[in-house]
Amino acid sequence: MSAIVSVRGVHKSFGDNHVLRGVDIDVDDGSITVVIGPSGCGKSVLIKHMIGLLKPDAGAILVDGDDIAKRSERDMVWVRRKFGMLFQHAALFDSMSVFDNVAFPLVEHAHLPRRKVADMVSARLNQLGLFGIEEKYPAELSGGMRKRVGLARATILDPKIVIYDEPMTGLDPIMCENVEEMILTAQRELKVSSIVVSHDMASTFRMASKVAMLFEGKVLVQGPPEEVRNSRVEVVRRFIYLSGTGPLEPPGDA
Ligand SMILES: Nc1ncnc2c1ncn2[C@@H]1O[C@H](COP(=O)(O)OP(=O)(O)O)[C@@H](O)[C@H]1O
Ligand SMILES: [Mg+2]
Repeated sequence: MSAIVSVRGVHKSFGDNHVLRGVDIDVDDGSITVVIGPSGCGKSVLIKHMIGLLKPDAGAILVDGDDIAKRSERDMVWVRRKFGMLFQHAALFDSMSVFDNVAFPLVEHAHLPRRKVADMVSARLNQLGLFGIEEKYPAELSGGMRKRVGLARATILDPKIVIYDEPMTGLDPIMCENVEEMILTAQRELKVSSIVVSHDMASTFRMASKVAMLFEGKVLVQGPPEEVRNSRVEVVRRFIYLSGTGPLEPPGDA
């Protein structure tokens, strides 16, 4: 499978805080790559490099084969068009209808007739299982619907890659299942490549094509979920064991 994003030997420090220490990761085209790892280990910093919000001190970030670390800020506008981003608190504009929320990037970036915008917004909402809510306001929607509207907005410009930073953190189990379903729907229906930062191990192992664990500035393991779940690397075993979804025996005694 070809990689749509390849991170190669990336280092990043903030002052004397050496966060990324030679990160290598491949995101395969059309796949769901889930990045796991302890809080503060640099997961968000890593994905900010992928969309060019941060520049590496060393290393390469290939997006569609193009090293974006070498690109000027002006070119980054085009790079970022390849990405849709859904943050933990997929904030919608409360004073705007669902329609205006989802249409926002279109109105900002493309000059299209109103009729065309309306068709695009409805089509995207429908693909994500939302019907007839265009005139509603965010406060009238359930949490799960708001997430979907956030995703509709993040994908309205047809990005090739969608990044979700901790989309499940702070949600109850039913909402988590909704979000998992939404990520799978986006992959299937919108044919996007997905990068998910998550602490939810159960859904990680269900939906991931690849799991990558970041630890102390490096990707310790990356591979199919079963391979990572059965990893012999002590830190990985411990992380998964503590999450309650790994091999039943505690690490260290095998
Ligand atoms: N813009 C920034 N300036 C300085 N330090 C930062 C910045 N962004 C992140 N960091 C530091 O980088 C480390 C990793 O942060 P982050 O990527 O947010 O962790 P997480 O894995 O929880 O997403 C933390 O020590 C954080 O304080
Ligand atoms: Mg983070």
